[in-house]
Amino acid sequence: MKIIGIMGAMDLEIKLLRDKMNVSNNEKVAGFNYYIGEIEGNQVILTCCGVGKVNAASCTQILIDRYGVDCIINTGIAGGLHNNVKICDVIISDNVTYHDVRKAQMKSCFPYKEFFDGDKELIELALNACKLNNNSDLNYHLGRIVSGESFVSDDNLKKKIVEEYSPHCVEMEGAAIGHVANINDVPFVIIRSISDNADNEATMSYEKFEKISAENSANIVLNMLRTL
Ligand code: ADE
Repeated sequence: MKIIGIMGAMDLEIKLLRDKMNVSNNEKVAGFNYYIGEIEGNQVILTCCGVGKVNAASCTQILIDRYGVDCIINTGIAGGLHNNVKICDVIISDNVTYHDVRKAQMKSCFPYKEFFDGDKELIELALNACKLNNNSDLNYHLGRIVSGESFVSDDNLKKKIVEEYSPHCVEMEGAAIGHVANINDVPFVIIRSISDNADNEATMSYEKFEKISAENSANIVLNMLRTL
């Protein structure tokens, strides 16, 4: 049976999954909690990595080395960066990249890739899970997710990121998770629901929608696990 690694950055983002999980063991490694058990009959390692790329990378490598996960699903919230993307919509990662890394410098480094592709089968599973959702109003999109070390709440920075990367949304972990998964040949997908529009009003919107968006995204993961 496959072992599925599921990650969220904040407790809020994994709460629904943790509540649905039959936990057989709980280990703390490098400060991260790893819940070992089953969700909907699937063997799962569920973890909360904290905010930011270093936390995400470290937590991902442990999932792979110590727990031998066969694939990784990241669930959580994000800031919308596309005209068609509205609050509470779900984004499935076609691919991920960093918005705060200078490509010109990185290209001279060994071995550097700019984009990390989500796994085709996991993407298909996630898209089907969106279609199956009870909430018939749910809008979902396949698109690029960009990550960086800051909460984007600025019209000018938003414009710059949109011009350079044409992303659907921004968050702070997905590219690091995708990067580590990719160099270990582990399939991954990032699933995010929109809590704000990464603009000057982002903080207010985030506070209002973080819980509902986090649950939206976790519900898609739950649907994926039901269809596996
Ligand atoms: N997560 C949710 N909203 C975000 C934003 N605007 N910037 C970065 N990460 C986010």
